[in-house]
Amino acid sequence: MFKQAERISQLPPYLFKEIDEKRRLMMGKGVDIIDLGIGDPDLPTSPHIIDAMAVAVKDPANHRYPSYSGMEEFRYEIAEWYLRRFSVKLDPDSEVIVLIGAKEGIAHISLAFIDPGDLALTPTPAYPVYHTGTLFAGGKPYFLPLHEKNGFQPDLAAIPPEVADKAKMIWINYPNNPTAAVAEKDFFESIVAFARRYGIMVCHDLTYSEIAFDGYKPMSLLEVEGAKETGIEFHSLSKTFNMTGWRIAFAVGNREAIQGLGAIKSNLDSGVFQAIQIAGIEALKSYREGISETAKIYERRRDIMVRGLHDAGFKVNPPKATFYLWVPVPHPYTSIDLAARLLDEAGVVVTPGHGFGSAGEGYIRIALTQDEKRLSEAVERVLKVGL
Ligand SMILES: Cc1ncc(COP(=O)(O)O)c(C=O)c1O
Repeated sequence: MFKQAERISQLPPYLFKEIDEKRRLMMGKGVDIIDLGIGDPDLPTSPHIIDAMAVAVKDPANHRYPSYSGMEEFRYEIAEWYLRRFSVKLDPDSEVIVLIGAKEGIAHISLAFIDPGDLALTPTPAYPVYHTGTLFAGGKPYFLPLHEKNGFQPDLAAIPPEVADKAKMIWINYPNNPTAAVAEKDFFESIVAFARRYGIMVCHDLTYSEIAFDGYKPMSLLEVEGAKETGIEFHSLSKTFNMTGWRIAFAVGNREAIQGLGAIKSNLDSGVFQAIQIAGIEALKSYREGISETAKIYERRRDIMVRGLHDAGFKVNPPKATFYLWVPVPHPYTSIDLAARLLDEAGVVVTPGHGFGSAGEGYIRIALTQDEKRLSEAVERVLKVGL
């Protein structure tokens, strides 16, 4: 009866209906499914963060509408954290905004800067919201394929100058979901130079900066000279502090970008519940660089899974960061066929790479969001399938 708006019909088709249905049926029959599909940490939020929330929730001062841009104390703490972690100075009043999850900010910023028909340079495969946010604003994604031969980084030289001239934004995300690739200073420098040459806003999604291994330390785009003139960076407490359900994140950087995002937010939604922001203050205050127990847990899981996958005949390199493995699909499978077979015969759920855009075909993504015992069990089951 109700015709949906064009923006809904433009969404890419959902490809995993059959796999989802199969999984539902198997679970209904009591099959023990090991879900390595979703990027949602199985680890709990730390007790001291929960305690801070528990106290704050009882204070009536926190029961009222929160400010759109975030509590001053939280924005201040975010600026302190950036200084300690990345040696980047931020003005908490004009260069920081609090978000109801990074997804919220990523989706909303296009509404502030993309007019109908404008181009946004969007990586593929990628977290889907860069693409859908662009579509919902009436913009057009211009896809930048991420290939293994380029370290899963976009080839800026391959972007035609007339496209770069028309582009309003470029999306990047390192450490990367789904490929688990990382990027170094020279890459960020080339992005900043490119963006400044063409007057493009760089939107960097840094949600996985604290899930890194073997002593590796991901950097902020804003560490690059001149980046603040052109860049905004999205960060989230979801993965860093195992707080996906709390919905708390922030964006920092270029003040016009922050202001534009704020204008959309203040008209479309409200601020984050103050008790949650107070928990966020506790999380950032107590953060100690280099001793992230969470990252160590994922590192051990990564080693178990990479070793097991090698034994099963997969060619996968151990990633330096994120809790994902981006695993090449052996011949003759498509990513969907392989995911279906692993579900059918091993009861293991993985995400077909195609779900992150057609350039993700040829890979599956495995999330390390189960404990070591379950991952070892998953490996044993995959070995038995014999691909
Ligand atoms: C690359 C990337 N960006 C953003 C998000 C969203 O994070 P949040 O929970 O803060 O909305 C995710 C979540 O999976 C992600 O993988």
